[in-house]
Amino acid sequence: MSKKDEIILAIESSCDDTGAAVLRGNIRGSKPKFRMLSAALKSQITIHRKTGGVVPEVAARAHMQNILPITEKALTDAKVKLADLDYIAVTAGPGLVVSLIVGVEFAKGLALAAGKPLIPTNHMAGHLYSAFAQAPDKVKFPVLAIVVSGGHTMLILMKNYYDYKVIGETVDDAAGEAFDKVARLLGLPYPGGPEISRLAHQGQTDLKFVRPMLHQAKPDFKFSFSGLKTAVLYYMDKLPKPISAQQKADIAMSFERAVADVLVSKAMRAAKKYGCRTVSLCGGVAANKHLRQTLAEACGQNKLYLNVPPMELCMDNAQMIAIAAYFKLRGGFKPPKVGQVKANPNWEL
Ligand code: KG4
Ligand code: ZN
Repeated sequence: MSKKDEIILAIESSCDDTGAAVLRGNIRGSKPKFRMLSAALKSQITIHRKTGGVVPEVAARAHMQNILPITEKALTDAKVKLADLDYIAVTAGPGLVVSLIVGVEFAKGLALAAGKPLIPTNHMAGHLYSAFAQAPDKVKFPVLAIVVSGGHTMLILMKNYYDYKVIGETVDDAAGEAFDKVARLLGLPYPGGPEISRLAHQGQTDLKFVRPMLHQAKPDFKFSFSGLKTAVLYYMDKLPKPISAQQKADIAMSFERAVADVLVSKAMRAAKKYGCRTVSLCGGVAANKHLRQTLAEACGQNKLYLNVPPMELCMDNAQMIAIAAYFKLRGGFKPPKVGQVKANPNWEL
């Protein structure tokens, strides 16, 4: 790291995790080089478990309590003072509007008080760039990124660090949302993804649920997961009650396999079509071991380099926002006036 490096404080509060991180990197150097000086996170899972999901106002109140101590912790751990910062980045969308407002208004106050430029950063760009957390200069473009979270399911084609476009999205439920809804059908607590994953390990019989939008007459890169959730519901309706633990495990395993099959098959098709050399897997659902394994096998067969961020960067966090802001600045982004930055819950990538 050189003296010309710049320091970014990033703040994330788009859903139910309050995060702050400090990154130091070369915004002007020829090759990207950065390092994370600190990362602090306060999860709200225990609060939202009581209601089986995120109640936006409850999340916003928790962000208000946590945002100052978490930001102070990130600065202290990085041994950095407000005056040392070159930029402040904040997630401005997409997400829950009341949660976003807490982070954005807090970051605006901080930026104005410290006299620092503010970089509004897209949460999904954060997930996308989380794949570059380690050895970013080793990634071979084009990259096909699979971004799968609680609110989004996207295939993104990246020609280089600064040029990317969404080539496929879900037409209804996101992959993570489907995990959460099926978990609820099975009586599992929130968030459902890790619970289904745990239960799936005990599965024995593959129930061969539908693979939505996989075998189309005109193949495209769109996804749909609400039909799969309905297939699980119909299957459960027909079972004699109570449903046994083994039957539940079979459902979890079969559901997980169906989701992984669709995601991996479409991603491989897209990687082939666009001549990609790397596949990255990001977002909360990227924590799913079966998905990682299925994708690793497919990438091995197709000679594609698989780039998956470390587990803690798959879930919501502020490091990924710092990395996205860093690349945004390297790409020539000029920060707007602080007063113009607004929470934008529907901000598209
Ligand atoms: O990226 P993320 O933390 O937040 C959003 O931006 O939405 O993703 C959260 C989603 C939830 O739907 C959660 O159930 C899912 O990621 N998830 C998983 C796993 N861990 C988290 N889904 C499947 N398997 C997992 N192991
Ligand atoms: Zn997210």
